[in-house]
Amino acid sequence: MEPNLKKIAAEKAVEWVEDGMTIGLGTGSTAYWAILRIAERVREGLTVRAAASSIRSEQLAREHGIPLVSLDEIDRFDLTIDGADEADDRLNLIKGGGGALLREKVLAASSDRFVVIVDESKRVRTLGAFPLPVEIVPFGSRLTLNALKALDGNPAVRMDGDRPYVTDNGNWIADCRFGTIDDPEQLSVRLNRIPGVVENGLFVGMTSAVVVGTAGGAIVLE
Ligand code: A5P
Repeated sequence: MEPNLKKIAAEKAVEWVEDGMTIGLGTGSTAYWAILRIAERVREGLTVRAAASSIRSEQLAREHGIPLVSLDEIDRFDLTIDGADEADDRLNLIKGGGGALLREKVLAASSDRFVVIVDESKRVRTLGAFPLPVEIVPFGSRLTLNALKALDGNPAVRMDGDRPYVTDNGNWIADCRFGTIDDPEQLSVRLNRIPGVVENGLFVGMTSAVVVGTAGGAIVLE
C-alpha cells in the first residue's frame, strides 16, 4: 500500500503540540489528518483549546472532541497547523485551494508558530504553477476582475455548479494565473491594494516550518 504522505506530515507536526497550548486548526485534506491526530491525543489526556479556519474544520474538530473556543477568547495561538497548495524553499506559500485563505491568514498572522504540512508534490522551486486564489467581494466583481487582469492575473471566478463558489465570509474566489511568481511579496502587496480584493493566497514570511511528508518519513524545512 502507498504511504499516506499527508498523514506522515500531519502526525510529525502534531508532535509539537503541548499541554496547555492554544491551537489553530487549518483546512483541507492534509489538515484533516492533523485534526484527527490532535483529537486522538486529546482522548489520551492532552489539554488544549483550539479554533479553526473554516466551518468544516470546526465541525470535524467538534465531532472528534477537540475543545473549541471562540476567536473572541483568543489573543494569540501558540501553534497553528495548516496545509498549503505550494511551498518554496524560502517557506513562502500559495494557499486557498480549499477556499479558506482569509481565515487561514488571520490565524497564521496571530500564531507564535505557523507550521505547514504538505506532501512532497507541493514543494516547488518557484511559486505559481498552482492558480493563486484571491478572495474578492461580490460587489463590483467585474471591476475587481478587470484590475486583476491589468496585473496579468488571468482571473477566473471559482464556480460551484453554475454559481460562484461562496467562501465562509460570503465572498468569492478569483483563481489567478500569473505564471511563475518571482517576487511573491511584491505581488501580494499589489493585489491587496485593489479595493475589491479582501486577501490573497500568498503567505510570505509567515511560516515557521514546513513539514514535508515523504515515503521515507517527514522532512522539516525551517
Ligand atoms: C484551504 O483553503 C487551503 O489553503 C488548504 O490548506 C490547501 O488548499 C491545502 O489543501 P490540501 O491539504 O487539501 O491539499
